[in-house]
Amino acid sequence: PRDEFIPELMAKMTIDEKIAQLVQYTADGTVTGPKAGINYIDEIKRGNVGSILNATSVKYTRELQELNLKNSRLKIPLIFGYDVIHGYKTIFPITLGETASWDLEAAELSARIAAEEAAASGVHWTFAPMVDISRDPRWGRVSEGAGEDTYLGSQMAMARVKGFQGTDLSLNTTVLACTKHFAAYGAAEAGRDYNTVDMSERTLREIYLPPFKATVDAGVGTFMTSFNEIAGVPATGSKFLLRDILKNEWNFDGFVVTDYTAINELIPHGVAKDSAQAGELAMRAGVDMDMVGGIYMRNLKNLLKEGKVTEAQINDACRRVLEAKYDLGLFHDPYRYNDDKREKNTIYKKEYLEAALDIANKSMVLLKNDNNVLPLKKEQKVAFVGPLVSDEWNIIGSWAASGDRYGYAVSVEEGINKIISDKNKVTFDKGVEILKDDRSMMQAAINNARNADVIVAVMGEFENMSGEAASRTNIDLPGIQKEFLAELKKLNKPIVLVLMNGRPLNLTWENENMDAILEAWFPGTMGGDAIAQTLYGMNVPSGKLPMTFPRNVGQVPIYYNHKNTGRPYLGEKDPEQKYKSRYIDVDNSPLFPFGYGLSYTTFIYSNLKLSSNTMDMNGSIEVSVDVANIGKYDGEEVVQLYIQDKVGSVTRPVKELKGFEKIKIQRGENKTVTFTVTPKDLRFYDIDMEFTAEPGDFEVTVGGNSVSGLTDKFVLVK
Ligand code: IFM
Repeated sequence: PRDEFIPELMAKMTIDEKIAQLVQYTADGTVTGPKAGINYIDEIKRGNVGSILNATSVKYTRELQELNLKNSRLKIPLIFGYDVIHGYKTIFPITLGETASWDLEAAELSARIAAEEAAASGVHWTFAPMVDISRDPRWGRVSEGAGEDTYLGSQMAMARVKGFQGTDLSLNTTVLACTKHFAAYGAAEAGRDYNTVDMSERTLREIYLPPFKATVDAGVGTFMTSFNEIAGVPATGSKFLLRDILKNEWNFDGFVVTDYTAINELIPHGVAKDSAQAGELAMRAGVDMDMVGGIYMRNLKNLLKEGKVTEAQINDACRRVLEAKYDLGLFHDPYRYNDDKREKNTIYKKEYLEAALDIANKSMVLLKNDNNVLPLKKEQKVAFVGPLVSDEWNIIGSWAASGDRYGYAVSVEEGINKIISDKNKVTFDKGVEILKDDRSMMQAAINNARNADVIVAVMGEFENMSGEAASRTNIDLPGIQKEFLAELKKLNKPIVLVLMNGRPLNLTWENENMDAILEAWFPGTMGGDAIAQTLYGMNVPSGKLPMTFPRNVGQVPIYYNHKNTGRPYLGEKDPEQKYKSRYIDVDNSPLFPFGYGLSYTTFIYSNLKLSSNTMDMNGSIEVSVDVANIGKYDGEEVVQLYIQDKVGSVTRPVKELKGFEKIKIQRGENKTVTFTVTPKDLRFYDIDMEFTAEPGDFEVTVGGNSVSGLTDKFVLVK
């Protein structure tokens, strides 16, 4: 058993061997950070390495493992980590897009498949899920997470951990998950990556930490620190976060790895004068493994001699890493993820591609559909235009691990061609580029569009405009795409805009000028099929936004669960128009709110019922609502439950998501959805920082998005 094996092993280990377990270097595969100048091969030969990142494939990881075992006196295996964010080979929609499905089974399944493919390719450990809440679309990494909401984010985070780690880590088809980035990385000032974060402990605990805690409860094996500081303390040197909260308060027993060279970065942060002090801060704070920077390797032994870190701290870190390796079965067989045949048979399995298509379909969000221009009809003549119409590069998104682009990813053009056999009905023209101001192709596209019944413009961001180190101050459709749309508009034909992008964009002009808008995110390997199926009505869109879309970048940060302020603006009917919390140039409301998304069919909510209008501290109430599908299509609806605590000892948000259910409703059918609310759902950090529910009045809203719904009230009594 582990509790005998690891102590026995550690009793034989020298301090150098223990420190080696805390060291991770990057291989030559994918590049995921700045150059660090360390020769990982030499370091493995010296027995100085516990883990390697960015090495994949059975062959490459086997070679490195062999080299390691040859040089490891006690034959301690390497653990191979890799960023398997939204798929390994079979690529699923970017995480933000997949979250728009509000489908927890889908999120779990895509993580499961990603784990199976990655594990078959020698990967033991993924640096996912990324669970950073973000309310700022300027930050490029919103694409990698679950958006702005704590409740939805926590549910998704748990599903993803379950998917990656499966039910039993000792099976060689599962990978260790890593919750990142701890913590509050998504709150970077002005949305600039790696930037300063400053927030109250209340906001930190209430909004940003719950998804992390949820993954601890789901049994996640590892955590990654974040690059940012919080209130003056860089997260990678934060004892408060790592030891006090994560390890002591939450009893997390896995190990903590830094982000890429994050210990070294304690120096430019200005809390360490040199690498020795940086290492000391990190070890004392509770960092177990040093990613890439080599600080632990160079300094820990000396720090121990000088009494600046303790042997107990090093032992604890080492134990955590070894236990993870044990749980993965690597001591039993270090090559259990290295089977060539399995690798070949697992990658791109038919059922994986089918799941990728299904999940991409589920992640489509219909933002506008005037005059039911969508779905398209096969008899219509359609001009498909735009830089992403035939694209196989961007469609799988920025952090697509080992995903293949050209020749593998299905483009929109390919997807359409599978559906439309009469080639006279469709044309495909790029028209413009995303990144270049090149107008030379525009006229040809316009000529084809002139002869069509409907124009479909497939546009968006270049894949690397979102993701790490990809912050934008301008969140409009980039380049001259809008100019092209304006030219198309002059043709007086219905225009459908299909978008691929990694963040909420400013779509105010597009919303005014386009007839329909379909948000497809970066939908993955099967994305072109999913978009084509959605456009032609073989898939009825059911996605809902996991992040607010602003009216312009000046509204950012903007999120649905904001506070009321002391001078809330009540809109045009407000008798006071001046001294209110508002802008003078744009409405306070977003363009598209959190939770929003249309369908080809119509859902009507009625009959909101509460089982009681009072609840005591040990009680619960049932909230039920009827949802009828009165449209022409079978469809799926995400029924959302929001609660507002009307008066608290501290201010409370205007509403908070507390439950949701995604249901299939056939046309003509009416379904009842029931939620159970308990005082547990009403807890927050009160004036004394106690996590508790306070008696008083509450408002419940149930609907299909965060701004409209049926409302009732209840009282929580002592
Ligand atoms: O996992 C990532 C992290 O999200 C950003 N920096 C690099 C890490 C490893 O590739």
